[in-house]
Amino acid sequence: EKSHNRIIDPAKLVGDDLKEIKANISKLLGSGHPFLNTVAKHYFSGEGKHVRPLLVLLIAQATSIADKKNTLSNVDYRSIDTPISHGLENITSHDVFDKKIHYTPSVTDQGCIILPTQRRLAEISEMIHTASLLHDDVIDASMTRRNLPSANASFGNKMAVLGGDFLLARASLALARLRNAECIELMATCIANLVEGEFMQLKNTKEEGGKVKKISTFDHYMDKTYMKTGSLIAQSCKASAVLGGSTGEVADIAYDFGKNLGLAFQLVDDMLDFTVTAAELGKPAGADLKLGLATAPVLFAWEEYPELESLIKRKFSKKGDEERARDLVYQSDGLKKTLNLAEIHCKYATDALIRLPASDARSALIQITEKLLTRRS
Ligand code: FPP
Ligand code: MG
Ligand code: MG
Repeated sequence: EKSHNRIIDPAKLVGDDLKEIKANISKLLGSGHPFLNTVAKHYFSGEGKHVRPLLVLLIAQATSIADKKNTLSNVDYRSIDTPISHGLENITSHDVFDKKIHYTPSVTDQGCIILPTQRRLAEISEMIHTASLLHDDVIDASMTRRNLPSANASFGNKMAVLGGDFLLARASLALARLRNAECIELMATCIANLVEGEFMQLKNTKEEGGKVKKISTFDHYMDKTYMKTGSLIAQSCKASAVLGGSTGEVADIAYDFGKNLGLAFQLVDDMLDFTVTAAELGKPAGADLKLGLATAPVLFAWEEYPELESLIKRKFSKKGDEERARDLVYQSDGLKKTLNLAEIHCKYATDALIRLPASDARSALIQITEKLLTRRS
């Protein structure tokens, strides 16, 4: 198809809506405690990729010209931007949003629409993601993120945890104000999934019929990957379609796209941990083996080098394990196979997208999917 080949700058297509994300999140994070604000806002001062907001906004556009339900939910957009109160009289309220921008849908020259609720969902998705990063860096004892000292390195573990909690709380408030029960359900599911994914990564076990079974299989790794990365992207994309009044079929397309893109994204992330420097990543490289984690490159290498089994089982804890495992990953086809699997999921993601009507937004999403495979950071 023609639109398939059109080169489009995805960020330009959603233009101002994407540029406003940081400033709007900042307004959602006002509180009577300047230091808490500083911690919660810490990761927004670095250069985030804003993958999730970008996807939410593009899905909004791409699904806006697809099949619609007869009844578009009648949202009072003013509910989105009510000033946030702390329940304490003596704390002054925060900046009120620019009404001109916030109550008006934006429309592209192809007639693709982004609603104010979908804009806010883009912000909510980034807030949930950032909350998970604040907690993740505590769990991983990671000292850098986005080329800056991590929140835990800057303010300590306790503050970083509270900052993440606060972000999550304000994301939940903003979500409730979208006045859409299905959307709340989707996003609540992915918050639980983030925790489950992190849990699965820490406890390489699965409960079956009351018994705890030790597993270290690829299935477990892929389930975990869906939980920690796929779910948030999938539900955010689906929720965007739902807010736009899409039919169930279109919402499912958005979900399938997001899920497979998310899986591919994490597979590439796990590959880059072996292939790219910390300077390029803006966060520590080679971290997974140090954390005792066997990701796709190691699991594939294990098929070629059975000796990896004992190293994986003891989480690379013996002296020399980490170096040995790293060498075997490089000697094996583990990295190549990881990229191949990411390619397969990118293909599934594109297969979902082409079921939507052609638009610049759809082309931009296809382009993001293809570029994912060659990203370096
Ligand atoms: C990054 O993974 C971390 C995640 C994708 C999710 C972490 C989830 C939690 C800590 C559960 C708590 C969740 C909430 C919503 C508060 P990584 O460590 O592999 O990546 P990195 O290299 O970027 O650190
Ligand atoms: Mg981490
Ligand atoms: Mg982690």
